[in-house]
Amino acid sequence: MASQHQRAAWFRGGDVPCEPMPHDRPHRLVLLGPPGAGKGTQAELLTQALGSCHLSTGDLFRAAQCVPDPSPALRDALAAMRRGELVSDDVVVALVRERARCLRCRGGFLLDGFPRTVAQAEALDALLAEQGLALDAVLSYELPLEEVVARLSGRRTCPGCKAVYHLAARPPRVEGVCDQCGGVLVQRADDRPELIRVRLRAYKESTRPLTDYYARAGKLVPAPASGTPEEILARALAALEGRGAGAVRT
Ligand code: AP5
Repeated sequence: MASQHQRAAWFRGGDVPCEPMPHDRPHRLVLLGPPGAGKGTQAELLTQALGSCHLSTGDLFRAAQCVPDPSPALRDALAAMRRGELVSDDVVVALVRERARCLRCRGGFLLDGFPRTVAQAEALDALLAEQGLALDAVLSYELPLEEVVARLSGRRTCPGCKAVYHLAARPPRVEGVCDQCGGVLVQRADDRPELIRVRLRAYKESTRPLTDYYARAGKLVPAPASGTPEEILARALAALEGRGAGAVRT
């Protein structure tokens, strides 16, 4: 599947070959929102609808947990993630910069979990300007706190193919087994209640100010995140169409 090739380039960095899904109107979007709002779930659906590649910094850090001999900077980053805190801007920006090729993807991109601070947003602006690219829009997913906590508590993920499930809302066909690759589903370590509280605090203090940043830039598209994933997707696509950023893959 083409999107898997694209993700390989993101995960491994460097010159890993990838087969983008070329699109006459590549979409370059940021997905913003609190932990558990459904950014990863929407990214999967948006990839199918728009052909853009899903670039998640959280997935990058989770994959890096298997690196046998991490650098001191990466070790610090993974320790911050285990505490539910944000990784330092320097480390995150360096990782994205190493993967700047993915930003030039002919299929476009969906940045999920990056940027997460104003400093990261400024770094992304600079990186895109260097590449001669511009963001089309920033989808800002909004969800009441109690729904956020319910979604995070019931989440199960596949470490192999990164598919995301929910015990009640999106259960796999066979309990504990990934529909897509047959992998054993796990609960993310940072979905424990005490870490959810830390992550929500980090969101409120560091990431929520980005809604003002992107509103000032005329890029912000509010995306209510209640309802089924398909309803949320339909609303977001309609909002993008309304901005003239449509051309949905058929
Ligand atoms: P990251 O992986 O980015 O986590 P997050 O932002 O906390 O977001 P989540 O993945 O928890 O939630 P989501 O919005 O994707 O929701 P999902 O679709 O899974 O980051 C993890 C960590 O890495 C950070 O804490 C930090 O340490 C570090 N990090 C990463 N990027 C960084 C950066 N740029 N700077 C600094 N540090 C960084 O859905 C949640 C659940 O809800 C699932 O079970 C799903 O099935 C279910 N669900 C989804 N949609 C619906 C629906 N419509 N109805 C019912 N259930 C639904």
